[in-house]
Amino acid sequence: MMLLLRLLPPLLPFLLPALAAGQRAAELRLGLRGSPRGEVNPAFLSLTLDASLARDPRYVALLSNSKLRALATALSPGFLRFGGTETDFLIFDPNKDSTSEEKILWELQAQQEACGSRPAFAAVEKVLLDQWPSQEKLILAEQNRKKHKNTTITKPNSFRKKSGIHIDGFQLGQDFIHLRQLLNNYALYQHAKLYGPDVGQPRKHTQRLLRSFLKSGGKVIDSVTWHHYYVNGRSATRRDFLSPEVLDTFATAIYEVLEIVGRTVPDKKVWLGETSSAYGGGAPRLSNTYVAGFMWLDKLGLSARQGIDVVMRQVFFGAGTYHLVDANFEPLPDYWLSLLYKKLVGTKVLQVGLAGADKRKLRVYLHCTNNLNSKYRDGDVTLFALNLYNVTQHLQLPDHLLSKHVDQYLLLPHGKENILSRSIELNGRVLRMLDDETLPELMEKPLGPGSLLGLPAFSYGFYVIKNAKAIACI
Ligand SMILES: *[C@@H]1O[C@H](CO)[C@@H](O)[C@H](O)[C@H]1NC(C)=O
Ligand SMILES: *[C@@H]1O[C@H](CO)[C@@H](O)[C@H](O)[C@H]1NC(C)=O
Repeated sequence: MMLLLRLLPPLLPFLLPALAAGQRAAELRLGLRGSPRGEVNPAFLSLTLDASLARDPRYVALLSNSKLRALATALSPGFLRFGGTETDFLIFDPNKDSTSEEKILWELQAQQEACGSRPAFAAVEKVLLDQWPSQEKLILAEQNRKKHKNTTITKPNSFRKKSGIHIDGFQLGQDFIHLRQLLNNYALYQHAKLYGPDVGQPRKHTQRLLRSFLKSGGKVIDSVTWHHYYVNGRSATRRDFLSPEVLDTFATAIYEVLEIVGRTVPDKKVWLGETSSAYGGGAPRLSNTYVAGFMWLDKLGLSARQGIDVVMRQVFFGAGTYHLVDANFEPLPDYWLSLLYKKLVGTKVLQVGLAGADKRKLRVYLHCTNNLNSKYRDGDVTLFALNLYNVTQHLQLPDHLLSKHVDQYLLLPHGKENILSRSIELNGRVLRMLDDETLPELMEKPLGPGSLLGLPAFSYGFYVIKNAKAIACI
């Protein structure tokens, strides 16, 4: 017995995750000494609702579902953008009478809010949810039909494609100036902010539009907005979602947008006003599963690193498969990933490097830990990592941090569908709501000093390095 006890300490190193023959842990280089590389908005991770939800205004009532509200509240602080193609064809008429059906709905909602009784509204909600699949089909079919139109690359924007009306960047800038003047005339709106021009990917014609818009109307906008999707939802493959090359295309797109802004309105912040994995409502059986997390987490990491101030995720709830919460009000893997990001990742961005692995396949990002998280202290840092290798990878902290305790938050798919699962585990426990209004506690797995950080094939996770004493985070 005594002998065994004495033997144990020297044996301990062998209890660390075993490395395959010839495999080395990748060494992390963490920038803990200098000033932060950048700082993002406290609402960095924000959400969108697509205007297609209001294509039939009755469906807006689904937003009062208590589970949906609890899920949204947990992601605060953040902006909620209401937009999308449909807004170009959406007319606000305060003088028009609501339909009798809408009136009944609003009355039921008002009753519910006044006395907290749900039964009547629950019945309406059920009807809406039963009808939602056919409504969703209609929305997506409309989107599809438009995409199937022949498009010539020289056409300047989607509005022209869909409406036949063309507005160039100069004119759009002048229109924004005019709108600003109109808003300034009303006490209610004079402090309202203006964001634009919501251009798509920075292809040649879009770059031209953005440049001329910013020269013409840039001074009246509060932030510059653009949109980004990696792939087309109808043709995207699982391989695209795991491809370092596809993920890297986003870095190039940011660079191009920032260059134009830098030359025209260098003091303006740049926001991703609408962004997701795949356009056209998302890629079926991909955008709503664990595999979508690679695009989402890498987008958050690259955006902050390259200087994007806010990232608005298309879509919180609504038609398609790129939603965070599905039509049964069940949170999907990207919801849980967003929640962990909110809880653990702070606004200050730090330098991080890696030696001993392909940086495109083992992707790492470093921030100060969110200082609103009472579990952690100033000076702590949060590393997040994505493993796109088809085998386990190990990360090793630098020597001067080997004495530090690390909290692991490893996210893995749950169930036999593997990375195409709609269910996700945190440190081995399936994440699900406890009841309609209660989210589970996000439990860390403490790793002892000197541990390697092991990431299985095709996985991602967060690591809080406690007591790291990063100067930028104090
Ligand atoms: C698209 O272009 C092709 C080739 O010019 C043409 O044959 C086809 O009719 C066009 N389709 C539509 C929907 O306009
Ligand atoms: C991993 O990918 C490599 C090619 O990059 C392939 O040769 C190998 O068989 C794959 N291994 C597994 C376990 O899938």
